[in-house]
Amino acid sequence: MGRREELRAIDEAIAAAAGGGFRFLALTGEPGVGKTRLLNELAARAAPEGFLVLAGRASEYEREVPFGVLVDALGDHVPDVVPKLPPRVGPAAVARLSGIFPTVADRCEPPPAPEPGADANPVAARHRLHGTLRLVVQTFAKSRPLALILDGLHWGDSASLGFLDYLVRNPPRAGVVVATAFHYRPDIPSLARLIQADDGLHLNVGCFDLGETAEYLGAGFSRARQRELHRVSGGNPFYLEALSRMDGAATRDPQAEVPLSVRAAIQLELGGLSEPALLVARAAAVAADAFEPGLIAVAAGVPESDVVTALDELVVSGVVQPSATGRFRFRHPLVRNTVYSTAAAGWRHAVHARIARHLEQVGAPATLLAHHVENSARYGDAAAIDILLRAARAVESHAPSASAFWFSGALRRMPEDHPERVAVMLKVSRLHVVAGELEQGERAADEVMRLLPRGEGTDRARAARFSAMTRRLLGRVEESRAVIMDELRAMPDRESPAAVHLRLRLVAENLLRMDQDAARALLDDIPEHSPSWDAACTMAVAALRPMCSYADGQIDRALGELDTASHLLAITPDGQLAESVDSLTWLCWSELLMGRPADASRHFERVLSVTRATGQHFIVSVAMCGLARAQTALGGLARAATTADEAVELAEMLNAGQQIVFGLAQRSVVEYWKGNGADAVDFARRAVDTAGDQGEWWGKQAELALGLALVETGQAEAGARSLLEAANGFARPGSDLVTLVQVSERLAELEAARGRHAASAEWAAEADKYSHASLPVSTGLAALARAHSLLSTDPGAAAEHARGAAAVLAGNEYPLDAGRALLTAGTAAARASRRDTAKADLRRAAEVFGGCGAASFLRRAVREQRRLGIYVPVRGRSSGPHELSRRELEVAELVSAGRTNQQIAEALFISARTVESHLAHIFAKLGVSSRAGVVSALRSPS
Ligand SMILES: Nc1ncnc2c1ncn2[C@@H]1O[C@H](COP(=O)(O)OP(=O)(O)OP(=O)(O)O)[C@@H](O)[C@H]1O
Ligand SMILES: [Mg+2]
Repeated sequence: MGRREELRAIDEAIAAAAGGGFRFLALTGEPGVGKTRLLNELAARAAPEGFLVLAGRASEYEREVPFGVLVDALGDHVPDVVPKLPPRVGPAAVARLSGIFPTVADRCEPPPAPEPGADANPVAARHRLHGTLRLVVQTFAKSRPLALILDGLHWGDSASLGFLDYLVRNPPRAGVVVATAFHYRPDIPSLARLIQADDGLHLNVGCFDLGETAEYLGAGFSRARQRELHRVSGGNPFYLEALSRMDGAATRDPQAEVPLSVRAAIQLELGGLSEPALLVARAAAVAADAFEPGLIAVAAGVPESDVVTALDELVVSGVVQPSATGRFRFRHPLVRNTVYSTAAAGWRHAVHARIARHLEQVGAPATLLAHHVENSARYGDAAAIDILLRAARAVESHAPSASAFWFSGALRRMPEDHPERVAVMLKVSRLHVVAGELEQGERAADEVMRLLPRGEGTDRARAARFSAMTRRLLGRVEESRAVIMDELRAMPDRESPAAVHLRLRLVAENLLRMDQDAARALLDDIPEHSPSWDAACTMAVAALRPMCSYADGQIDRALGELDTASHLLAITPDGQLAESVDSLTWLCWSELLMGRPADASRHFERVLSVTRATGQHFIVSVAMCGLARAQTALGGLARAATTADEAVELAEMLNAGQQIVFGLAQRSVVEYWKGNGADAVDFARRAVDTAGDQGEWWGKQAELALGLALVETGQAEAGARSLLEAANGFARPGSDLVTLVQVSERLAELEAARGRHAASAEWAAEADKYSHASLPVSTGLAALARAHSLLSTDPGAAAEHARGAAAVLAGNEYPLDAGRALLTAGTAAARASRRDTAKADLRRAAEVFGGCGAASFLRRAVREQRRLGIYVPVRGRSSGPHELSRRELEVAELVSAGRTNQQIAEALFISARTVESHLAHIFAKLGVSSRAGVVSALRSPS
């Protein structure tokens, strides 16, 4: 009834998939509004078009079962496609599938166990599994189009949601329509991302209006009664259906999600059932969402023949409906929910226990048993603990969230003195963070702390750091500091390595909120070395010193400390670095800010290799942001863009807001330089919005990016405001020194362009004030600021200043800013009628911009040249060096090996879209336009 618009969208999606395309459909709306009904309609329309229709439903009571909704939809059919998977899907992948789909384990030849350690990296393992599942979907759709229907995703387990998130970013290359329905929960990031899918359509299904309500109820209801029922039900069809069966005045409690009267109506309906039918309904509600008579007989503890009789009655009364392959389901989740709530808690335990015992007897895997064990086992039950631990370990690498849930279940039953307790708890905490469930990660870390004696041991200190870090990732930075301080107060030996790492974390916290004095005081209190420290601990302390001195304005001291730390790092073996990478990133950031992007880039790469190897995935995206920034400074824009993309992708997987901000800000800066102003504004705005108003350094960097982007797109006023905000209004505690010079220089340029010479000169003076003789970046930018301010009054002098700026910046690995200085120099020289020098400056500027791929700056340089009457040939593509980055080389080699984008994405653990962007850069750099071109370019000797 009704739903014309929705049905049109459904038909369109079916047509697109029938033509070999991919479509994703997300239906949202309140419970009972008619989403499932629409999904059924989609199934009914797809089947006659020759679609294979596979449907699954997530349910309220099995939320933690990993890949539950996918198993429901695909489970019975996956064994059929396993033999048809492409040959490159090795036995290890089949083994992974059999870990998810019990049917594969039952019906396919047993694959060899995966090599131990192959899945040690949970991010990589999940990525590999997602790739395999995507191939499964694609193989289903090989001979005819596929409609994959997934209902009730608001109860979807996080492994399934993670896969869907992956699937919409890496659409299968086949005729597939994935249709989903859920109650939209903006706090579940993967759901939020699903409704923004690229090849997708989001439909919010609304309630019936009065006319539709009347039509739905039919002629048997008076006008007044129709109006009354519409008012009470709000036009919700499920409520209407339930209420219309009940007489009398119905009321709606505005507090309850479901009107009380609706619940009452369903209860009334259940009241009409016979006692045996009610028992079977209850057992079924507890047991499973889709159930077979055999299992319900076990659950209810009655003979199967009785169950069959009872099911007949339940079907006739409409409480349950038969579904595919001999199973049954409740008419609606709310019906199951109501039946469930009429069963006593103790009885529900007994049902789960009976099912668990039964499954164990028939040799079901731990992962199938775990759900029932979790719902029935008692404290101290060693066998139950064992099952839960086994299930948790089995899914640890590919379903971290479910794994954490079962580990926690095991923990709840473990006696206080269980030897594995602390280790399991720390594991739970890490798994939650890796799964992007930061709150739970935090809670688990806190639990470890409650368990261990205060101030003692490495485990306790590690838990404290972890707990502080999750709070920071969650944006609760004050608490993060409080946790560390609290822990430190209780530590007997403040110079033990464990205590030192905590103290360093506190220094970092203060630096982040731009409280240099506190940071300095804390750091000065830590000795340079102590006999109990290893090389990495000594290095960690040294790694934070430069940033403290720099933030404090003690530049010469900072530069000396940079050298010391860099030397210490060179002699520290990778094997020791695990606990110190966090501090090491600070060395990298100092190098970046103080004008050594090449060193920073090298050291960030080292951070990345250690964090990946030691499972500290939450540091990876931060390091990638830093790396992207270094690459930008060095003029490698194409490289920087993909690094920043990967950083954002990872941060989103971890659900870490601050890291998303970092990545987006960097992404914006890259687009700014590439000349895509609108994209730059977009990225920066998302960064600023995500950052909120924390008053921390990284938020200021997002403002800086926004300021640049706004000015670039002609929004001078707003741009200036953002730039000022980035410098914290030049108040103390303020941004770091180079940022202050940077902002002053940009404002000097902006004011000069607006013809406000006095204001421009003031900003130039400001840039001078903050610049420091030992920091060439700052003196270079200050000279450039001076040039801007003199451009119209004394162009000859302006040109000199700008040329000086260019020399300093180019000599210090800042080609893009050097290019900007050359552009200013050329423009000024032209105004001073010094044609020859102007020509030379502009030509060099154009070379720099062309080489880096800074398109709009290149256009500006060309425009200035043409203004001087110089003939400039239109360039085909950048004349820059054709060298490929490490990542691009990897991609290019895989292309040469004949791999598809998707295969490359799977091999490198990035999305297909990121591969596409790598490829675009590779084509540009190699000057080719096809994959074949890449192959021959790689083969040619140069
Ligand atoms: N357009 C419609 N015409 C007639 N009946 C409808 C229509 N939409 C929904 N209904 C009926 O209303 C009831 C509830 O609909 P449905 O189960 O599709 O809701 P839902 O949105 O999937 O709810 P939930 O979010 O709780 O799963 C069903 O019995 C369904 O048949
Ligand atoms: Mg539904």
